[in-house]
Amino acid sequence: MSNEAFDDRYELREFAPGTDDQGAPNAETEGWMQAVGLGFHEPHPGDEHAARMVGHFVEDDNTWLGAYVRHPQPGSVDETWPAGTFAWFHKALSWGDGSSIDTQAISAVTVRPTERRRGILRRMMTHALERGVADGYAMASLTASEGTIYRRFGFGSAIRERAVRVRRDRALPFLAPTSGTVAVVTPEWLAGGVGRSVFDRFNARTPGSMVRNAGTWPVALGLLGLDGEPAKGVRAAVHRPDGSDEVDGYVTWRVAEGATRDSDTVLTIVDLVYATDEAYLSLWEFLLSIDLNDVVKYSRSRLDDPIVAALGDNRAYDVEHEEDHVWLRVLDVPRVLASRPYAVDGSLTLAVTDALGFTTGTYRLDVLEGRGSVTRVTNDVDAAGSDLQLDVADLGALLIGSVSPRTLASAGLLRAVDPAAPALLAAMLTPLRTPHGITYF
Ligand SMILES: CC(C)(COP(=O)(O)OP(=O)(O)OC[C@H]1O[C@@H](n2cnc3c(N)ncnc32)[C@H](O)[C@@H]1OP(=O)(O)O)[C@@H](O)C(=O)NCCC(=O)NCCS
Repeated sequence: MSNEAFDDRYELREFAPGTDDQGAPNAETEGWMQAVGLGFHEPHPGDEHAARMVGHFVEDDNTWLGAYVRHPQPGSVDETWPAGTFAWFHKALSWGDGSSIDTQAISAVTVRPTERRRGILRRMMTHALERGVADGYAMASLTASEGTIYRRFGFGSAIRERAVRVRRDRALPFLAPTSGTVAVVTPEWLAGGVGRSVFDRFNARTPGSMVRNAGTWPVALGLLGLDGEPAKGVRAAVHRPDGSDEVDGYVTWRVAEGATRDSDTVLTIVDLVYATDEAYLSLWEFLLSIDLNDVVKYSRSRLDDPIVAALGDNRAYDVEHEEDHVWLRVLDVPRVLASRPYAVDGSLTLAVTDALGFTTGTYRLDVLEGRGSVTRVTNDVDAAGSDLQLDVADLGALLIGSVSPRTLASAGLLRAVDPAAPALLAAMLTPLRTPHGITYF
């Protein structure tokens, strides 16, 4: 669809969510939320939950975008609901050394089935990223519902996650003793501040971790279900190191009994947050020791999970599923590369292609004493004058250090004449510890 035809058919409107005098979503906010619910097959929230959600959107300082049909058919929801929805807000991404970079976090991307493939997503994405650049963001981020949508817009899959199951009967004892003590607490106690302070410590030390949306917390801590109703049957426990009163890890979980005599009873982890490796190990050991249960399931596991090595029988651990988690889109190469720590010093020149044009150019990265400085050598892709050539999506994929440049070279996505170049970049980008993302948005 040409730009003119698009503009004849749709009006793009940017606004902030808000409430009316009674605290209910105002008309524009209500229509937009209805459209997102339709896109993600979610039931429309009741009044109380809708008001709470808007409070969270305001707290997170959301900007919303709606693509509105200019001439709705009679009776169609187009009269009040946008045909396309899109949101963004600030979200810091941790480098794991206590530093972070602010990202333009993108969410709630939907297009009404009747209006698909007419360029609504492309228009909303282009509008949002241009606005992000104007507002000073050096990077955008998102979590995706499908793996094939976002690369064309320069996003690379930077961190993956695993859904795992551990069978209790073969898991314990662990091969090495754990330390500290575990105590069962109530979700309400955890919500009194302890849970969030543990997350802050986890976030600061974990490469790839991102701060959470306000609306995530009541669910993660076991107070509310995803439907906004009080959560039923969520339990909580915390870990403290030996000789300390300070909580350094917590877990929330629920148990579902097997439907038949032959089916497994399953304990599902709702949230597992750890500021130390000891807390992670001890909380797993605790979960695996709970009786009247067959399997522990965790859908937010990281690659290279130390539990595999710790288990009495490593075959108690099964990966049920693995997929992309956070996608990153570099908008300003010098600022992004200068913001992260490096494990090894060195110099490399990178030629970056970018179909949307934000970052196209050739850049020299010099790392000295673990800090990078970047100069833009030319505004062109100078393949001959560079050590490495890659698309901006693959630069995003590499950034956290979870995806190796050598892997991308093997996949044909990163090109280098000298194989030492991807190896040097891999060494430079080695993260402080295994990246782990437990934040959805
Ligand atoms: C995914 C979705 C937002 C696409 O919206 P759309 O307005 O139809 O997309 P556009 O017409 O702007 O297409 C943009 C490009 O993406 C491609 N594309 C669109 N949807 C795609 C999909 N599901 N998978 C792969 N490619 C897709 C188009 O082919 C087009 O490619 P091109 O520009 O290179 O030719 C829409 O299908 C949708 O709402 N899906 C359900 C909700 C969802 O999955 N949201 C994503 C949440 S992370």
